[in-house]
Amino acid sequence: MPDPGSFADTVKQQADIVRIVGDYVRLKKTGAQNFGGLCPFHKEKTPSFSVHATRQFYHCFGCGASGDVFSFVQKIENITFPEAVRSVAQKLGIQAPKQSFSPEEAREAQLRSVLVEMHERACAFFEDQLRRPEAAKAREYLAGRGLDEPTIRAFRIGYAPDSGFLLRDLFRGTDEALLRDSGLFSWKESETAKPTAEDKPLKTSLYSKFRDRIIFPICNESGKVIAFTGRRLSNDDKAGPKYLNSPETAIYTKSRVLFNLDKAKEHIRALDYAILVEGQMDCIAVYTVGFKNVIASSGTAFTEAQVRLLARHSRNVVVNFDPDTAGAAAAERSLGLLVEEDFHVKVLTLEQGLDPDLFIRRRGRSEYEAVLKLAPLYFNYLVDRARALHPPRSAENKAKAVNYLLPHLNRVPNRIVRDELAADMAQKLGIDSAVLRQELRRAVAARSGTVKAPPEPPITDAERILLRALHPADKGSSDMARHLGEIIQSERLHEGLANESLIRAAISAEESGLSDSERARVASILMREDEPLTTELVQGAVDALRRRRLEHMQREIRSRIVEAERRQDHSSLPALLQEKLRIDRELASCHGA
Ligand code: GTP
Ligand code: MN
Repeated sequence: MPDPGSFADTVKQQADIVRIVGDYVRLKKTGAQNFGGLCPFHKEKTPSFSVHATRQFYHCFGCGASGDVFSFVQKIENITFPEAVRSVAQKLGIQAPKQSFSPEEAREAQLRSVLVEMHERACAFFEDQLRRPEAAKAREYLAGRGLDEPTIRAFRIGYAPDSGFLLRDLFRGTDEALLRDSGLFSWKESETAKPTAEDKPLKTSLYSKFRDRIIFPICNESGKVIAFTGRRLSNDDKAGPKYLNSPETAIYTKSRVLFNLDKAKEHIRALDYAILVEGQMDCIAVYTVGFKNVIASSGTAFTEAQVRLLARHSRNVVVNFDPDTAGAAAAERSLGLLVEEDFHVKVLTLEQGLDPDLFIRRRGRSEYEAVLKLAPLYFNYLVDRARALHPPRSAENKAKAVNYLLPHLNRVPNRIVRDELAADMAQKLGIDSAVLRQELRRAVAARSGTVKAPPEPPITDAERILLRALHPADKGSSDMARHLGEIIQSERLHEGLANESLIRAAISAEESGLSDSERARVASILMREDEPLTTELVQGAVDALRRRRLEHMQREIRSRIVEAERRQDHSSLPALLQEKLRIDRELASCHGA
C-alpha cells in the first residue's frame, strides 16, 4: 500500500489494473468486476489468475501470487518498486517527480534507466548515420534486400559507421565504466588487464562494438531499445560473424527477449496466434507485407522464459523455421519446448532453400498467406516425416515410425491429449495390429520412449526349445514333455511371452485354438530339428524363462517401492523391500545356475 498522498498513491488512484495487467496477459471478463486469464507467474493450462476491477487487486488461485498494480508490474518486469511506479506513471502519462528513488534503491534502477537512455541515443545515432553520404553502400544493401524507407523507419534500422570512435565521441564525458557496462563498446584486452586504481581515469581506448554493420535495434516488450544486432554488409568472413549481438547487460537478458514482440503483441492477441521465424530479416519481411503478429527467435533455440513471454499473448503459434538448416536441432528444441508449454503448434515448411524473407520476395504476399493457411499441425507434420523415414509397409517399419514419434509425443503434458494423438497417429500409420496399438498406448501412458513387438513376434531360442520339448517326437520323451508342461504352468513361466499362445496350446495339446498362421509357425519350428534336444538344453531354456519372469517381478516390485516412497507409505515399505530381497536372491542363484 503506498502512503496516502505519495506520488505512488496518486498514480495508483489513476491506474486501472485491468488495463495495465491486460497489457501483459490476455484477460477475459469473467464476472461483473472480474477478469480472468492464465497466470504469468506460473505454468498453467486453465486460467486461475484473476483481476478485480474495483478492488484493483490481482490474485492467482494456482500459485497464490497477489497484489496491486505495482506489485504486478514489479514482478512481471523484474524491477524495483520505484521503477514500477514510474513505469505505471509513464503508461498513464503522469510526470514523475525527480526524487522518487531512495538512494539505495536508486543505484540499480538508475543504471538501468541510464543504459536505456544510452541505447536510445545510440539508436538515433545509427539511424542518422544511415542517412549520411558515407552510408550509401548500406542504403544500397537495404534497398537490395527490399527494405523501403517506411520499413527502415518503423524498425529504426541504422548503420554503424566503419570508424568505431564516432559512437564513443557521442558519449564523451560519460563515465568510462558505464560505457563498458553498456555493451556498446569494445576495447583492447591488454589494456584492461592492467590493474587500475579506482580513482584514476582509465586510459583505454574504447571503440564501438558495431562497425560497418546494418543495425537492428532489439526492444523490450514496451518498445524501449535495450540491445542491438548488427549484420555485416559484406559476405566476407573477414568482416566477422554475419550477425553480431550486444552482450547481456543490466537491461538485456537474451533469453528473455523476443525480437519484435513489442510491435507484434497486440496483433498476436487480436489474431490469437503468432508466427515464429528465425531471423530478424525474416521477421521484418513477414511484418512488412502485413502479417504483423510475427516474432523472431534470432536464430537460437527458444528458452522457457521466451515461451512463457509469448504464452501471455497467445498459445497458438505457427513455426516457420527452415528445418533443413544447421538450425534444425535448435528448431527441434524450440518445438519441443512449445509443446511442453502446452502450445498449439503448427509448422510451416517453405520450399527448399527459401527462408521467409526470400520466399516473400520471390513469391509475394498472397502465396505466403496461402502456405501459412495450409501449415499442418506439428504432430501431423511429424507423422509425415516418420512416414517418409520409415514407409509403413512392414510391421517393423511401423514400429520404427512409432519409435521416432514417441519422444515427441511424450512431451505433451496432458495425458488425454497424448492418448488422442497416439490413436490418431496409429490410424495415420495404418497400425491395425492390436498388439502394436496396445504397446503404443502403454508407452504413451507411461511416457516411455519406445515400443517393441512388431505384430509377428520373433521367437527366442528358449521358446523354440521348449516348443520342441513340449511336442514329443517319440513315446520315450512324452513323460518329459508332461513334466515340463507342469513346471511351466505351475511357475507361470509362459505368461507374457511373445509366443505364449503357442506354448499354452502345446501344453494342453490343444492346437485347435491356434490360428492357421500360428499352426504353420509351430510346424516350421518342429521341422527344423537341427540340434538334438538334450536335458541340458531344456533345462537352460527353463532357466532362461525363470530369469525373465524374475526380472519382470523385479521391475514390478521396484516400481511399487518407488510408488510407495512417493506416497510416503511407510507401512507397506518393509514388506515390499523384503519381497524385493527375496527376488534379488532368487535371481542371483538363477544366474549362477
Ligand atoms: P540474412 O542472411 O541476413 O537473410 O539472415 P538470415 O536470417 O537468413 O540468416 P540465417 O538463416 O543464416 O540465420 C538465422 C538467424 O540466426 C539470423 O537472423 C540471426 O539472428 C542468427 N545468426 C545467423 N548468423 C549469426 C551469427 O553469425 N551470429 C549470431 N549471433 N547470430 C547469427
Ligand atoms: Mn535470409
